[in-house]
Amino acid sequence: MPSSKIQKNVITVRGRERSLTIKQKNLFSNLDKYKLDFSLLKKDKKYKGSKLFFEIGFGSGDIIYRQAKLNPNDLFIGVEYYRKGITQLIEKIENNNIENIKILHGDARKILMNIPDGIFEEIWLFFPDPWPKNRHEKRRFIQLDMIDTLASKIKKDGKLLISSDDKNYIGWTLSLLLMKNCFNWLALGPSDWRLPNNDYFGSRYEKKGIKSDREPYFLKFQKI
Ligand SMILES: C[S@@+](CC[C@H](N)C(=O)[O-])C[C@H]1O[C@@H](n2cnc3c(N)ncnc32)[C@H](O)[C@@H]1O
Repeated sequence: MPSSKIQKNVITVRGRERSLTIKQKNLFSNLDKYKLDFSLLKKDKKYKGSKLFFEIGFGSGDIIYRQAKLNPNDLFIGVEYYRKGITQLIEKIENNNIENIKILHGDARKILMNIPDGIFEEIWLFFPDPWPKNRHEKRRFIQLDMIDTLASKIKKDGKLLISSDDKNYIGWTLSLLLMKNCFNWLALGPSDWRLPNNDYFGSRYEKKGIKSDREPYFLKFQKI
């Protein structure tokens, strides 16, 4: 299991954790219900035949929630650093009786190290914090060793989907992924990076960008 080295004190999230309201604290206290023990995954009959999808930094959980609702036979696992986002996803799950979402709380770089290899159909990294300044490039989620880690967790022919409305981040991501031999970039022409997959729903963060005239780009890679 290759692991991504995490440099001490290098963070990938922006801002600071704000304190939670009482309602959010109550929702967060339900997190245990949504935890996933990967070692039990194969033994649990409930997930037999399910495809596994993994979202890194789901924010308020708009995309993972809608995909889980649309595909009840598959299992959707999301990681988020901030508790507020987690409470927003828990609220959606509980209001809509969704049974196929698991939630992991913390730094996805560390969490990935403890996930078995070759299990995901797709990994999604939608609108990661762009860290546009050159001196902050270490904070970007996509790094050369992270690409190895992501590739190791995806099944052969599985996909890595990355989107951003920051041209610099898209350029950075493409250049690092093309340097590695783990993925093929599934793009034949501009519509392939200007348009998302057919069943894709935008996120709140993406809509904010569109309102401010930031065009979204969608990169789709297939594991070799
Ligand atoms: C710009 S927001 C985008 C959220 C969401 N993907 C969307 O499209 O609305 C980036 C999110 O990634 C989360 N994040 C950044 N680095 C992370 C990490 N290392 N582990 C877990 N979550 C992370 C942040 O907390 C934030 O919620």
